[in-house]
Amino acid sequence: MLDAIESLPRQREAFRADVLTGLSQPQKTIPCRWFYDRRGSELFEEITGLDEYYPTRTETAILRRHAGDMAALCGDGVVLLEYGAGAGIKFEILVDALRAPRMYVPIDIAADFLDQTVARIRQRFPLLVTRPIVADFTTGFDMPADIPAGRRAAFFPGSTIGNLDRAEAAALLRRMCGHVGRQGKAIIGVDLRKDIRTLIAAYDDGDGVTAAFNLNLLARVNRELEGNFAVECFAHEARWNERESAIEMHLVSRKRQVVSVAGRSFAFAEGETIHTESSRKYDIRGFTEVARHAGWCVVAVWSDPADRFAVFGLDRET
Ligand SMILES: C[S@@+](CC[C@H](N)C(=O)[O-])C[C@H]1O[C@@H](n2cnc3c(N)ncnc32)[C@H](O)[C@@H]1O
Repeated sequence: MLDAIESLPRQREAFRADVLTGLSQPQKTIPCRWFYDRRGSELFEEITGLDEYYPTRTETAILRRHAGDMAALCGDGVVLLEYGAGAGIKFEILVDALRAPRMYVPIDIAADFLDQTVARIRQRFPLLVTRPIVADFTTGFDMPADIPAGRRAAFFPGSTIGNLDRAEAAALLRRMCGHVGRQGKAIIGVDLRKDIRTLIAAYDDGDGVTAAFNLNLLARVNRELEGNFAVECFAHEARWNERESAIEMHLVSRKRQVVSVAGRSFAFAEGETIHTESSRKYDIRGFTEVARHAGWCVVAVWSDPADRFAVFGLDRET
């Protein structure tokens, strides 16, 4: 059912290359796109319901409140391309407001979880054509030919754009221009700068769900790449990086140890970390600039009363 543009063996090979390269750097790193195996995707859904994790409930309230305006921006008969669709919950909020949507195209790197999402969406909206794509949106990919070329809009909620640095974010927004065409629109969820205590708590909750999500990456390396990480010998840490305006997640080695992955050995000093995610926080002006450089006009900014989160409406025209 899925159009595996990234075929699974190729995806496994990309995972292997990223992990081996990342663990060979002076600052060890594993890119956050690999968080989302089935267990990681389930843990992320659990995170979205935590008291500390304000982004989901804040963005959801904005979508509910302004769905009509967002649908007007998309126009009638839109083909909606959702990047990093995950469980597709945000789409379900928007869909009722959309006028006769022509097709829903959820795009995600996590094939298993996308499969589950698509089954649910098809059951709930049997008249809607749902056309999933398994792909890594950080690499160039062409839209399959069976996706209608007419009116298209990109939908990228969840502040997932914050996981990309500015250059990567601009590159993806430019790629979206290519995907939606000259009259295309976009709706992008962006988390905003706020007090650091609130930010840290959102990425280091009291129940340890975010810690489990972060540590699951090591378990995934063990499962898929013949790794032998002793997961209990690493600790989750969330820290603020002011220069990058980002919350960073790290896995901290609790002791001096050597770990083997895919036949290669990696030494860790006590306290040494693997950087697993940056989550950049923007202000309205900063994100407007990124969007403008990538060929978009900001035509609307929908936010909550406390300005915690913003959903940007973008237009290629005007
Ligand atoms: C933070 S979650 C957001 C999920 C959902 N959009 C939401 O708002 O709750 C990020 C989603 O993007 C997907 N994802 C992350 N990196 C990706 C990449 N490089 N290419 C495609 N999908 C990716 C993950 O599998 C996950 O479903």
